Amino acid sequence: MSSFFLTTAIDYVNSRPHLGTAYEKITADVIARYHRLKGDGTWFLMGNDEHSQNVFKRAQEQGKDPLAYCDEMEQIFREVWRGLDISFDDFIRTTDRRRHFPAVQRMAQACLDNGDIYEGTYEGFYCVGCEEFKPEKDLVDGLCPIHKTKPEWIKEKNWFFRLSKYQQPLLKFYEEHPSFIEPEVRRNEILRFVEGGLEDLSMSRAGQSWGIPLPFDPTSVVYVWFDALINYAAAAGYGWDDAQFARRWPANLHIVGKDITRFHCVIWPAMLMSAGLPLPGQVFGHGWVFFKGERMSKTMGNIVDPLDAAKRFGPDPLRLYLTKEVVYGADGDFTWERFEEKYNADLANNLGNLVNRVAAMSERYRQGRLLARGGESLATIAADATSAYRKAMDGLALHEGVAAAYRLISAANEYIAETQPWSLAKDPAKAEQLSGVLYDASEAVRIAAVLLLPVMPSSAAEILRRLGDTTAPGNLRFDTAAAWRASGERGILNAGALWPRLEDKGAITVSETTPTAASGSPAPAPAAPAAPSAPVAPPAPDAPAIDSDKITIDDFMKVQLKVAKILEASNVPKSKKLVQLKVDVGEAEPRTILAGIAESYQPEQLVGRTIVVVANLKPAKLMGIESNGMVLAASPEGGGALLLNAEPAVPGTRVR
Ligand code: MSP
Repeated sequence: MSSFFLTTAIDYVNSRPHLGTAYEKITADVIARYHRLKGDGTWFLMGNDEHSQNVFKRAQEQGKDPLAYCDEMEQIFREVWRGLDISFDDFIRTTDRRRHFPAVQRMAQACLDNGDIYEGTYEGFYCVGCEEFKPEKDLVDGLCPIHKTKPEWIKEKNWFFRLSKYQQPLLKFYEEHPSFIEPEVRRNEILRFVEGGLEDLSMSRAGQSWGIPLPFDPTSVVYVWFDALINYAAAAGYGWDDAQFARRWPANLHIVGKDITRFHCVIWPAMLMSAGLPLPGQVFGHGWVFFKGERMSKTMGNIVDPLDAAKRFGPDPLRLYLTKEVVYGADGDFTWERFEEKYNADLANNLGNLVNRVAAMSERYRQGRLLARGGESLATIAADATSAYRKAMDGLALHEGVAAAYRLISAANEYIAETQPWSLAKDPAKAEQLSGVLYDASEAVRIAAVLLLPVMPSSAAEILRRLGDTTAPGNLRFDTAAAWRASGERGILNAGALWPRLEDKGAITVSETTPTAASGSPAPAPAAPAAPSAPVAPPAPDAPAIDSDKITIDDFMKVQLKVAKILEASNVPKSKKLVQLKVDVGEAEPRTILAGIAESYQPEQLVGRTIVVVANLKPAKLMGIESNGMVLAASPEGGGALLLNAEPAVPGTRVR
């Protein structure tokens, strides 16, 4: 068993977490859970960065003692992380006097003893938002390019860290450890930056009380970044438990945002070199998540509260969205519309429907008991998906890992459509084949659920439970759990929809919310009625105010239009117009629908087509046959009926 120590950035606590900061924790949690699934002794560290001037100011604004304010914020952060199912093993705060203070003081002393800290005077612009001195050339119209605020001019006596001395050692280290900085775009940025030469770093602030005093100058506190970076070593035991530190350090992976890779890839390794400590294995600089293409910010009023998003459908759909839709390492975007679309497509219509179908058919045709078998084509697809998943996850291509799991899900869906268990069920001679098909489908879903465990911990565990896997998810091990099971028996539970389609829940859009005050928890967003996503043309100037033959969106939403695939087609005896169709509408069983299209199509031309049907029409009997729905077709002047093509949508997809 190998060990794996990973960390996230520690957050400033001047406001509650937003979707961007949550993105980092969710993806790090996926990585941590994946390592646990592989059986690695995993230690996942998170925490809060409290010695920032902005934190101090926020506490003052609220008339609170800064430490008491940070205590409150810790509870808020923990509540958000709990709400997103983040499974950190340790949480460190930079105001922790038992662990963090001694670590920071020890490291400052070690750097001093090594001749890397000296006294000088600093004069320059300081951006409090970045907590960083800004060279004048980096300002845009005199403002910080990130925070769009005017930096303060500061002149004070400071202690400096001899960063310039580490230019060559750092470049050598990057060369010898090519995977130290990932992804490649970040590595190139850092290489270019360090090659350009490094300036010494001011590592103290004079005359401030909020911070950790320097052991060799109690009138100064440690600069917030020098302080914060040490959290990783502090949590491992540095400065207070040498034996534990020796066991745990170095960290294998630091997950941080692309805006702070420089601190982690340049300053932090130089500090560790100076203190004579081993360097971490890798720094991964993920991209940013935007809201409708904009940076989330209080002034823009477009901050998405991750708990609002998690309250929408539970944490798992949000975790899936952020992991699947954003290429890990690149920037991504969140909108409520896209989130809801993906919920319907990936969960309600795809995975959720697959689980329901398998469970419903297993119950109906085999009383919920399935016997294992080899698996043929699906077993091969599962093995391919599993190895692609593993490769992707080991390389931190989380989005590709999820895509591999979804390839298996799609293959299982196609397999059901092709093998048509409902037809097999009618022929007693095909009983064994039917058993095999149901088992194979269930096994493919089980393996997909194992692959999705790190991403959707509760839902994947629930799928496994329904598929009769009695092992506690925490005890599952990737190698055995993700392998095809060719023997044994399983009991399948048919327990209803895991993710009801949105229209069934009667709510479509969550209003954009601004975060509530740090001390209060956010009110759940009100559910608004469905709104059309296509732009609505304004009425013509001479149009009457109310058009009596127009219907409202509510009227329209009553009609359930769905994508369907034609499985069988035959002529209806004694009818010139009617064709009898068997269509897959994404339900456990296909439906029979009669359509007046016989004059336009031969039955054999119809099989395999993907069309649109009205799915919630009351059943009607025509020529003695019950029709359950209506096929949509265009009827041009002069007769005929042209079916609408709904390729490549999945059966069951709602059409609007
Ligand atoms: N306190 C420092 C980190 C110190 S680590 C020793 C800090 N805090 S932060 O609260 O501003 O940001 C915390 C993390 O969230 C950073 O990794 C940052 O890049 C990330 N993100 C902040 N906004 C983000 C998005 N909109 N999208 C993705 N990540 C974002 O920096």
